[in-house]
Amino acid sequence: MNDQIIDLRSDTITRPTPEMLQAMHGAKTGDDVFAEDPITVELQERCAALFGHEAALYCPSGTMTNQIAINVHVRPGDEVICDRKSHIYNYEGGGIARNSGASVRLLEGNNGRFIWSDVEKEINPSDSHYSRSSLVSVEDTCNRGGGSVWNMDDLRGIQAGCARSNLPLHLDGARVWNAVIARNENKVPSEEVWRNYGQTFDSISICFSKGLGAPVGSVLIGNRDFIAEAHRTRKVLGGGMRQIGGLAAACMHALDCELPRMNQDHFHAQALAKSLEEVNCVESIEPVETNIVIFSLKSNVSPDRFVKWAEKQGISCFPFGGQKVRFVTHRDVSQEHIERACKILGQAEL
Ligand SMILES: Cc1ncc(COP(=O)(O)O)c(C=O)c1O
Repeated sequence: MNDQIIDLRSDTITRPTPEMLQAMHGAKTGDDVFAEDPITVELQERCAALFGHEAALYCPSGTMTNQIAINVHVRPGDEVICDRKSHIYNYEGGGIARNSGASVRLLEGNNGRFIWSDVEKEINPSDSHYSRSSLVSVEDTCNRGGGSVWNMDDLRGIQAGCARSNLPLHLDGARVWNAVIARNENKVPSEEVWRNYGQTFDSISICFSKGLGAPVGSVLIGNRDFIAEAHRTRKVLGGGMRQIGGLAAACMHALDCELPRMNQDHFHAQALAKSLEEVNCVESIEPVETNIVIFSLKSNVSPDRFVKWAEKQGISCFPFGGQKVRFVTHRDVSQEHIERACKILGQAEL
């Protein structure tokens, strides 16, 4: 990576550190389709225990773990209830319809978040005229919501409502790490906090290839029966892998060594937002809760123009729909990068 470029496009662009590569090197391996890859088995057990569930399944991507979960929870013709900003709705290639034959009931939440009364209104009556409401999905943090963190009481309300209505609750936790740390005053919480949080959901998808810096890997978590079915769906989607111990070792290393530094990404995002407050062409900045900063430009400056200007100054970022631009902080953005980016933004004239 060119260290001169401050790459704020996404937290998926991180490269494995030398320490992570060392952890991967020489990892013991076996055939994971036969559940014989020892580090993958260990990783799955560790993730299940961390989030207070019985079992887990390692998969190549967060899209696959979400899609498998949906496939196991719903039948063709059913409806998934989620927010309009959800990744499962916007960015998984229409997979809900394509893989599971289901449709989506969208909620208009607050930066990707909603409460039980929003869900309750959208549950279809048990009547053959309607599709069956079969799953509620939340995304914590919500990417399109600007890395927004859910309120625990709201999640518990949704959990209780789902239990009363016999609806499973899925978590797209691609950035669950950021969410849990942010809710705990930017510190890694106790095992009990992780476990209580995990037990709010019937299934959980977590990713290692975003803020945790692993090159690949997501894990789907749930009870034993759910994961047995998930195994079947992973096979059908072509996601069964063989000697993947090295990849699982990267995830283990990430859990041990990357979580404690993740709060830096949140502080860096706050610093960027503060600098943006002084930039003339910035109309508004969405609340910054974790590692994502979404801001809107005044109507006389297009996001494309801003992004091109930033690129010339050595900052890479993406337009994010309408007048919006997104910055994402991550482990490969250093304190020095942030100081430089803030200085550049401080001198912006567009
Ligand atoms: C919230 C969320 N869920 C799921 C995914 C999918 O992960 P993957 O890119 O590993 O398929 C992403 C990817 O960025 C994401 O942001």
